[in-house]
Amino acid sequence: MHVKNLECSFCHREYEARRVHNVCTECGKPLLVRYDLKRIAKFLTRQTLYARRSDLWRYREVLPVRREDNIISLGEGWTPLHHAKNLGSALGMTALYVKDESVNPTQSFKARGMAVAVSMARELGLKKLAAPSAGNAGGALAAYCARAGLESYIFMPRDTPRANVIECEVAGAHVTLMDGLITDCGAEVARRKDAEGWFDVSTLKEPYRVEGKKTLGYELAEQSAWTLPDVIVYPTGGGTGLVGMWKAFDEMQELGWIDSKRPRMVSVQAEGCAPIVRAFEKGERFATEFPNAATVASGLRVPKAIGDFLILDAIRESEGTAIAVTDEELVAGAREIGRREGIFASPEGGACVPALRKLLEKGRVKADERVVLFNTGSGIKYLDAFDAAVKERTPRSQKKSALGPALRP
Ligand SMILES: Cc1ncc(COP(=O)(O)O)c(C=O)c1O
Ligand SMILES: [Zn+2]
Repeated sequence: MHVKNLECSFCHREYEARRVHNVCTECGKPLLVRYDLKRIAKFLTRQTLYARRSDLWRYREVLPVRREDNIISLGEGWTPLHHAKNLGSALGMTALYVKDESVNPTQSFKARGMAVAVSMARELGLKKLAAPSAGNAGGALAAYCARAGLESYIFMPRDTPRANVIECEVAGAHVTLMDGLITDCGAEVARRKDAEGWFDVSTLKEPYRVEGKKTLGYELAEQSAWTLPDVIVYPTGGGTGLVGMWKAFDEMQELGWIDSKRPRMVSVQAEGCAPIVRAFEKGERFATEFPNAATVASGLRVPKAIGDFLILDAIRESEGTAIAVTDEELVAGAREIGRREGIFASPEGGACVPALRKLLEKGRVKADERVVLFNTGSGIKYLDAFDAAVKERTPRSQKKSALGPALRP
């Protein structure tokens, strides 16, 4: 309704809205949606939002879908922002919060991006959508396509958690498991899409998933009485969540909803796949492909991200940082969120805990600062990762009977 045009995030070339676009045809970088925010600000106020539906479509005017009946919704967004008092006090903090994205449809924040991308695909008359996926994006794409009556083609690494593969199949997706990483799956989509008539909905290779993800930023502001936190800790793979929130902050400032103060953006990755952390440390604007990427946090197993410079720009502009944690630490982090707050976090969400602990130790985050951790998904889809950690910790003598001697007949 209020979209002005699309704009290349790198060379700023403009593109007409309401046409099918993937990346910039000049430079190959992601396109972003630009709105007529001055006009929107005239009638959309913070107060108008109060009475609205409790999902991400409450921010309808700053989302790209024009016609109401093209909206495909399963109730995504408007997730709780919990004051994590127990986890906070274990870390010596008073104002620690967890934005719990595991309660989204398909149990992860990927629902936000796919709800908007699939709705837009329907509006643009597309019929077959294809994407590589580390797991959660595939599940979300499959679900929204099922609801929209569109076909989905999903390419996943063979070692993707089983739950992700099964949920795609149950939702009627065409699933292909590949030897290799998400980048290899992405290359397969790119190679076949023209011949097959697929629209490529890979992360940041179409303009609308990031629009869905940016609602994380709108919600965070609205749920924090329009004062953003001091620090955001976010597990980063392709980076749409971080890039989306950063875009939302600028939009909200232009709408007159927040001031110019920004949170320090902390990007967390796994030591086995940390291209953004490496590039950040080296002072580079683009990240080089991370060799032999490996981590149980499958959403973080992204060795090369097309939006690398957008992630790195946001981290630097916000005076944030990028930090890597080991697989052992991130699974332990997820367990700690479970034990202290009752949230079964994904390993990606768990990664925020050891990252924050390190930053507190180094004095990069102060104990009295307001910090928000993002639990991007549910641990329920990663049973093997938790199981493996249990087995490693259990001494042999205890492995024989899970029930223990007293319960044996
Ligand atoms: C649970 C989870 N957390 C984090 C990520 C990384 O997200 P992004 O691509 O927005 O950096 C993913 C991506 O697959 C994910 O599934
Ligand atoms: Zn460009």
